[in-house]
Parts: sequence; C-alpha cells; structure tokens
Amino acid sequence: MSVWRIKPVSAFEADMKKSDLKRVLTKWGLTSLGIGAIIGGGIFTLTGIAAHDYAGPALALSFVIAGIGCLFASLCYAEFASVLPVEGSAYAYAYGTVGELFAWFIGWNLILEYMMGATTVAVAWSGYFCKLLHLFHLDIPIWLSNDLATATEKSLAAGITAPSFAFNLPALLITWVVTAILIKGIQEAAKTNNVIVIIKIAVVLFVIIVGAFYINTENWTPFIPSEINTIGEDGVAGVKFGFGGVLTAATIVFFAYIGFDAVSTQAGEAINPKKDVPFAIIASLVICTVLYILVSLVLTGMVKYDQLDKAAPVASAFSAIGLNWAVFIITLAATAGLTSVMLVMMLGQTRIFLGMAKDGLLPRGLFGTLHEKFKTPYKSTILVGLIVSIVAALTPINKVSEMCSMGTLLAFAMVCVAVMILRYKKPELERPYRTPAVYLVGCLGVAFNIFLMCFVRKETWVAFLIWGAIGIAVYFIYSKRNSNLEKQGIE
Ligand code: ALA
Repeated sequence: MSVWRIKPVSAFEADMKKSDLKRVLTKWGLTSLGIGAIIGGGIFTLTGIAAHDYAGPALALSFVIAGIGCLFASLCYAEFASVLPVEGSAYAYAYGTVGELFAWFIGWNLILEYMMGATTVAVAWSGYFCKLLHLFHLDIPIWLSNDLATATEKSLAAGITAPSFAFNLPALLITWVVTAILIKGIQEAAKTNNVIVIIKIAVVLFVIIVGAFYINTENWTPFIPSEINTIGEDGVAGVKFGFGGVLTAATIVFFAYIGFDAVSTQAGEAINPKKDVPFAIIASLVICTVLYILVSLVLTGMVKYDQLDKAAPVASAFSAIGLNWAVFIITLAATAGLTSVMLVMMLGQTRIFLGMAKDGLLPRGLFGTLHEKFKTPYKSTILVGLIVSIVAALTPINKVSEMCSMGTLLAFAMVCVAVMILRYKKPELERPYRTPAVYLVGCLGVAFNIFLMCFVRKETWVAFLIWGAIGIAVYFIYSKRNSNLEKQGIE
C-alpha cells in the first residue's frame, strides 16, 4: 500500500517556508521564462518538415490542433500551480494527490522532457551555429560538429570518406556555457533569458510583419493538399496531406509547444507563486500559439509548401524571396533563441531534482545541496550539464527529440488525471486559479496526449518502456526506502 502514500499539503507548505531559493521572479519574468522555453527548435526547424511532408499550407491548422491540446494541459497545470506552488512541477502535484509511485514515475518522465529537451536543443543549436559561421565562410569539420551517425550520413552525401570518430563540439560547449550561467544564479539566468526572449519575439514579429508583404495567396491553395498513402523507411504505413497528414504534422509541431510547463518548476523562486505561476503558464502558451499560427500562415504564403527547406524553413523562405540580409538576422536570432530554451529546460530539471531530493526520493547530498553564495543547486546543475553535453555530443537529434516528446506527453496526461483526482478528493482546498469545466478539460487533455503518443515510432516506445522499467527499479531499490514519508511512518 505504501507506494500510494500521499504527501500532505501541510508538508508542501512547510517546505515552501523552509526554502532557501531566492524569490525574485515577477509575473512577467515568469511569462518570459515560459516564452524562453517555448520558442525554439520547433518553430525554427520542424515547421519545414511538417509543412513540406505532411500538412502543406494547413500547417497553421496543425498548430491550432497541437495548441488546443496543450491548452487543456496548461489549464490543469495552472490549477495545480495555484494550489501547490512548489518547485517540483508535475512530480510534486502527483505526490500531493495520487501517490508516491505515480509521482516518482512522473518525475522520471520529466527527466526525459527536460534533459532530453535540452539535449535536442543543444544539437539544434549546433546546427544553427554552424550555419551562422558558414555565412562568414567559416566551417567546422563534419566530424567535429555532428554525432557519428549524422557525420557518416553527411560525409557520404557530400561524397567524402566517412569519419571513424565524431562528436558534436559546439553542442558540448554551449551546454557548459548554459551550465555556468545556471550555477551563477537564477537572477543571472532570468536576465539572460529576458534579453534573449526580447530578441526572439522581435525576430518572430519581423518574420510575420515583413513576410506578410510577400504572401502570395495562391500558395495557400489547396489549403489541405489531397491525401497520399506512404510507406516510411521503417516499413510502417503512413499518410501525408489530407486531414491525416495535418494530424501527423500536429504531433511533430507538438515539440514547439513544450516548455510552458517549465514555468511551474520555478514556483519556488516566484515572488507571488499562487497567482503569477498560473498566469505565466497560460499567458506564455497563448502568446506563442498566436505567434506560431501567424508564422506558419506567412511561411506557407511566402513559399509554396513543397519548396520550403526542411532544415531551416524560416531563413530559407526569406532567401527564396531575395531578402538575403534577413537570413543573417534570423539565423543569429535562432541561435540565441535556442540558448534560452536550453537555459530554462536545464533550470527546470535541477528544480525537479531538488523537489525530489527534499522528499528523500533522490540523494539529498547530490541533488538537494545549494551553493552557499549563489543559492543554486550547483552539484545537480553540474551533473545535468555533464549528461546533456555528453548525450548531445554523441546522439542524433531525432532520437533525443522523440524521447523528449514521449516523456512530456505522458507527464501532461498524468497531470490532467491528477487535477481531476484532487478536485474530487479535496474540493474544499483554496484554489486561487480553478481549471474551467475541470472534468471535461481534464478528460480531453488525457485523450489528446495519449492520442499523440500512439503516433510515436515503435523503436521509441521500446526505449521508453526500458527507461520506465529502470525508473521503477530505482524507486524500489532506493527511493521508497529513503522517502521522508517512510521515515515518518506514513502509509
Ligand atoms: N518548444 C521548444 C522548442 O521548440 C522545446 O525548442
């Protein structure tokens, strides 16, 4: 029975009072962190493949669908954040409602979301950084800017001998720069993030406003190209275009929305968490959804969908219409923009570890110790930096991004379940923010996230199940025995 024990709300309140983290984040500071985590690789890269291969001009519709699905999850996150404004995010919410094992399992999946998210973005950053250098006629050798599998593929495509060793040096270095900023402190991280978010929003608005003048409405017809059945490289039947293609594109651009929930990991550093965290979660998601829909309409209006570049669609759309100077600005902003996604993802990961360590489910010495001067969990920040940098240096991007989406989808679905359970079991709790029509929104959130999980490749499912099995083993070997609730004799 004890795997279902629940952390009492009073214990969360006691943790909040004891917290040594500095409370410096305002409402808009939190919203900026959300936008910092959201706008990144998704809009700057994945829009290309989603429009070119699956949705055509209806890419905007795919963004609407994925955005509505995320909105359900965000409304549930917001209610939780208002009741339990603590740093562990979905992990903490589940611990206060469903039980310890469920919570542990969410925490374990959040590692995929945050750590694999940061890893994906580190690899994407390296790609953009190399493009930027290329604009100045500087090129890093293929073996020094890719993992071995990608380096081999690129070398063969270029007709040169494939290397026997390769690693992604830019991805490794940017991870250590971000790690250093995070150790220095939340204020430095927030300031760096604010500057980058301003640049990022400015460039997205630039794309929308300037691009709008170059829209040729004929490019939008047909809005949804007719359906074609396909067989993928893995032999699995698929569909492109038609409504099926729009849905597949929605699963791809889902990655672009990941990050709004990262705001909830910073509740321990918010000045007024009960009100401001729910606001920031919803505001950052809504702002990005509107921007994404407009960008996708502009892109597919500027260039016929089948002419869009799959690797750098935004920059290449501008070079296609002859605005080459804009390519430099967009590439530079995308490189900076990806840095802030890494910053918030890695920040979120260490705060989730901190929450789990405080509860005794992870070793306190490693994950719960704060730096005396900077008041940041420096040891776990270094550990996260080490893992992200090594995996990013050696792994192809699609492998890590799919694991990231998988972990996120399950965590979102579990939060939707947990918010309904809390409403049912503890209707009397003070809720500064209440999810509207919670049972409907919660069920739709679960359905949407599980639906998208069904579209993930079989290979990723296998890796995901192995990851889950390791997590359960760690729980029974270490976490269950060392849990604070175990020590307090709570069943
Ligand atoms: N939403 C983030 C991105 O697109 C993870 O990079």
